[in-house]
This record gives sequence, structure tokens and C-alpha cells, in this order.
Amino acid sequence: MTQILSADKAGVAQAAALLRQGALVAFGTETVYGLGGDATNADAVAAIFAAKGRPALNPLICHYPSADRVFRDVVSNPRAERVAEAFWPGPLTLVLPRRTDCAVTLATGAGLGTLAVRVPAHPSATALLVAAARPVAAPSANRSGQVSPTSVRHVLDGLDGRIAAVLDSGACRVGVESTVLDLSGAEPVLLRPGGVSRENLEACLGPVRLPGDESVMRSPGMLASHYAPALPVRLHATAVADNEALLAFGGVLAGARCVFQLSASGDTAEAAGRLFEGLRWLDSEAARLGAVRIAAMPVPDAGLGLAINDRLRRAAAPRGG
Ligand code: TXA
Ligand code: MG
Repeated sequence: MTQILSADKAGVAQAAALLRQGALVAFGTETVYGLGGDATNADAVAAIFAAKGRPALNPLICHYPSADRVFRDVVSNPRAERVAEAFWPGPLTLVLPRRTDCAVTLATGAGLGTLAVRVPAHPSATALLVAAARPVAAPSANRSGQVSPTSVRHVLDGLDGRIAAVLDSGACRVGVESTVLDLSGAEPVLLRPGGVSRENLEACLGPVRLPGDESVMRSPGMLASHYAPALPVRLHATAVADNEALLAFGGVLAGARCVFQLSASGDTAEAAGRLFEGLRWLDSEAARLGAVRIAAMPVPDAGLGLAINDRLRRAAAPRGG
């Protein structure tokens, strides 16, 4: 049985004690719930991969309470200083070279010479990271390949009985994962669109390019099929069939019987906050109504739309075995 801890002083202290003992604790951040383990403890890190059923070649993000702590484990540079100042705490992950005295086990980063690091903007996550007093590795708290969790209920749906506890931090404000920005090379590369928009990054750094084919090597976790609901997903829907459930954005398509509205006003930040909840809800409702597919209306690539479209493309991608 997985214990549900309230995010008060006693709950946070208990969650931190569990982490220090090498146990796994899920906790809320502003993006999604993370499945936390002590990043300096090889057994705890192995247990994260096992609980999720995650391939060991897909590296994890390390979480810290402040930028100061981050730069004890990775090598900083002027661009990293600038974005850390502008966006931390917040939904931005930086990929930077490990320091030679980095405390994080190599397995956390899947053996790479770089490490993904972030400072979440959520009071109980910060309290937990301070109390744990060590970097905490945390992938999204879902079984590998499934939809990321934005509530305690979602976490338990996938991981009940597989982890020691979940810290009840309420709902997640941003609702999609952090933006992953690689600053380890000559130019910044946006490996995963997320909670900080490309526009906002470029206002701070100048041009940030999207990865080409080499991204498969640089971010091995960006597998094509991911965030997959149980039902198949059809993209760019401009009409809806009788046997389809609709993921709507803006005006609802005529004739739709089972609808989840991401944002009636066409606001991409609101839509990002509702995306994973919507995919889960349509899965259960569509099954009840006999629909066989989810039709997703188009979302513009601006603002958090880039992250939404990235997740929808993966949700729609052909699934391996
Ligand atoms: O919002 C988030 O980022 C959430 C919360 C819990 O913080 N975490 C999360 O972790 O989404 P996860 O494990 O689901 O995604 C981590 C992503 C993967 O795409 C992985 O491949 C990439 O970051 N990544 C991690 N380390 C990397 C590295 N050294 N180089 C390139 N990509 C890396
Ligand atoms: Mg994930």
C-alpha cells in the first residue's frame, strides 16, 4: 500500500525521511507529479526505473531547492546563469556537463556525461527538497509510456503499491512537463518543449533551435510513442465521427457526443493545464460510450501550444509492442 502524506510540516518531514532511507516518494510540482528517489543512492535510482518500467537508457531529471545547489553538481556557463536567473524556480530543465565531483550517481543520467537539472516552483516540493538535503531524481510519476499525472489520484492509478508514499501537493498548475534545454554544447537546443515557451526562452537567450535527427542520441528519452492513452489518437481533426471522442480546443465540432474542452477561449496555457486530465477522462468516458478513438482538434504552435502538440504527436504515434 502506498501511503498518502499531507503536505504539512509532519508530512513533508516523513516524506524526506523516506527519501533519505532510499524509499520512493511521489510529490507534486508545478508541472506534473514526480516519482522521487535519492539521486545519490544507486539502489534508489534503480528502484525508480523498476517502479515505472522505464528503460535504463532514458535519463532522469535531478531536482534541487535552489540554483546554488544545482551548480554544485553541474558546470555552469553564462547562458545557464541567465536562464536560471530568469526562469528558476520554474518549469525549465537544463542539460549541463556533470562536475567531476558530482554527487549524483551515473545511473541517474543513464551514464551520460551530462545531467538534467531543475528547480521546481512549488512550495511543498521546495520544502521536501530542503528537508531531504540531497538531489532528488524524479521522472513523471506514471508507468513508462502512459499519460503523466497531475493529481494524487492519477499517481495512484499507475503506481499504488509500487512506491512508499505520495505527498499530496494538490493539482499541478502548469500541467505539462518542464521544457528541457540543452546548454552543454555550442548553441542552445530545445530538446523537449514544455512549461516555459520557446518565445520566452528566445527573449532571454536569442535563437534556440529545435533538435534535428541527432536528438535521438542526445535525449534518448524522447521516444516516439509516449503519453499514450488507452485509445488511439487522431490528430488535426476538423470533423468528428460517430465513434470518436473529441479533445476540443476553441469551438466544439458539430455532432461530437463525448467532449473534453481544453480551452473554450483558445488559451494554450489553460489547455496545457488540462491536457493530461483530458486524455485520462476521454479514455474512461469514451470506453463507457463505445467510442473507439480520440479525435484531437488542432492547437496552434505558439506559447504552450508547442508542448501540447509535442505530447499529442507522441500520444498518436504508432505504439511498439
Ligand atoms: O516537469 C518535469 O520535467 C517532470 C517533473 C516531475 O519535474 N519530470 C519529467 O521527467 O518529466 P521525465 O523523466 O519524464 O523526463 C525527463 C526528460 C526525458 O525526455 C529525458 O530523456 C530528458 O529529460 N533528459 C534527462 N537527462 C538528460 C540528459 N542528460 N540529456 C538529454 N536529455 C535528458
Ligand atoms: Mg515522463
